[in-house]
Parts: sequence; C-alpha cells; structure tokens
Amino acid sequence: MGKSIGILSVKGGVGKTSSVIALGDAFSKFGKKVLLVDANFSAPNLGVHLNIIEPKKTAHHVLNRTASFKDAIQKMDNFDVLPSSMFEDILISPIELRKKLGMVKGKYDFVIIDSSPSLSEETIGALIASDEVFIVTTPDYPTLSMTLKTIKLARKRGIPINGLILNKVHGRDFELSIDNIEKTAEVPVLAVIPYDTNILESVSEFTPSVTFNPYSRASNEYMKLAAILSGKKHNPFSIRRFMGITPKKQDINRDIFYESYFK
Ligand SMILES: Nc1ncnc2c1ncn2[C@@H]1O[C@H](COP(=O)(O)OP(=O)(O)OP(=O)(O)O)[C@@H](O)[C@H]1O
Ligand SMILES: [Mg+2]
Repeated sequence: MGKSIGILSVKGGVGKTSSVIALGDAFSKFGKKVLLVDANFSAPNLGVHLNIIEPKKTAHHVLNRTASFKDAIQKMDNFDVLPSSMFEDILISPIELRKKLGMVKGKYDFVIIDSSPSLSEETIGALIASDEVFIVTTPDYPTLSMTLKTIKLARKRGIPINGLILNKVHGRDFELSIDNIEKTAEVPVLAVIPYDTNILESVSEFTPSVTFNPYSRASNEYMKLAAILSGKKHNPFSIRRFMGITPKKQDINRDIFYESYFK
C-alpha cells in the first residue's frame, strides 16, 4: 500500500505546489511510483505547472462520481498526475478524498497531495487524506504565524507531521534562523530549500524542477528528503566530517528522522 503525503500550509505562495512536484520528481529518480494529486480544489494549478491545461476529467469528476481514476489520471514521464478543474463549477465534498484515494494508493509507492492555502473544507480534505504531512514555511514572521496555525490544524486531526520544508531561503541575516523556527514551531526542519531561480525557470518550461536542473542546491535538498523517505540512508556527515565541518541542522534532523521512521 502506498503512502499518502500531504504538503500543507494555510499561507499562500510559500511553495506547496513547487514542493509537491519537486518531491514527486525526486522520488521517481529513486525508482518510486508516484501520483501527484491536486487537492487545491478552488484554485488548482498543479496541472498548469506541468502543462496540463483544461483537462477533460479531473479529481472533481472522480469525487462527484462522473469519472474513474483511469479517466482522470494523466501519465507524465516521471509520475502520474490527478489534476483538478480550474474553470468548471463542480460541486464536490473534499472530505471524500481519503476514501477515494484508498482505491488507487495500492498502485503507487507515494501519493503526494497538494493543498489549498485556504482554511476550509478542502484543506481538511487534503489533511485527512494524508497519512503524514510536511508543512512548507518560509523564514519570516507572517509565514511562521500561519505555519503555527497549520501545525495546530494537523495536530487537532491527529495527522503526523514529519517536519517542515523551509523554502525560499536567501541566507540573509534578517531571516528567521532554523533554530528560531524550530523552537517556536516545535517541529524539526527536514529540508532547507534556497530561493532558486531554477525553480521559476522550470515552471516557464513546464518541467519538474529536479529534472530541469538536477545539480541545483534546491534539487539536491529535495533529493535528500526523497532519499530518506524512500529508506535510503545517505551519510550526511561523510564529506563534512572528513573536512572537519559541522553538519547542517537539517542533515542532523534527517538522520534522526530516518532512525525513528524506519525503526
Ligand atoms: N525555492 C524557490 N525559489 C524561488 N521561487 C520559488 C521557490 N519555491 C517556489 N517558488 C515560486 O514561488 C511561487 C509560489 O510557489 P507555489 O505555487 O509552489 O506556492 P503555493 O504554496 O503552492 O501557492 P498557493 O498557496 O497559491 O497554492 C511560484 O512562482 C514558484 O515558482
Ligand atoms: Mg499551490
């Protein structure tokens, strides 16, 4: 049975959709079978990122029982995608997503769920359809406050939070530090993704960012995250230890996470 991983934040524009695609792409490089699901039902754009424009059958049709998964799932080079309807008004109950996904999870190693920034039934639908979640955040106070709200939402529903994906990091002094964020959120940062124009460029080419530039620092970080979730323990300390450099916080966190995840 595949695992469903929700990528959440009730703050808009932090990089949920970008992370869903990058993580899915990274999993595929480890030979994993992946389905990306657009559960941002009111303002979907996972499909647009991947050049799936106005799909005839979508998650909306699956949820209102007018299409099967077979009709709605689109096969891409590295993963499958269940897009949502952008322009049609189709009445759905997002809460049913969990039950519906149960019908296809067996065909995949990972089902990655993109969610809405709105604090609404659709976000709850994405949350409860997830076996576990990552919360995407950026290193600033307004986003951190919304991150706390998202953490609370997940905890209230009893959905395990694997960690935070800290995105769009410029590495400047005015940004919140990892320590500060972790102390406030009480959730470990499991990936630090730099602000990277490769990600913006990849969208303009409708290409998943890890495939677009496998050697960027952002891709490298998504690959490390996908590696531990795939059960491939990388040795974060080898080169750094050899060079006498202290390991990064996120590398230590990933190591700890790996030990508890696969124990
Ligand atoms: N690490 C990054 N570096 C630079 N740009 C990024 C990065 N991550 C995401 N972006 C850009 O930021 C914008 C918002 O990203 P994205 O659409 O993934 O956010 P979102 O959280 O899904 O937004 P929404 O809440 O509206 O669904 C996009 O233009 C995306 O290309
Ligand atoms: Mg999005």
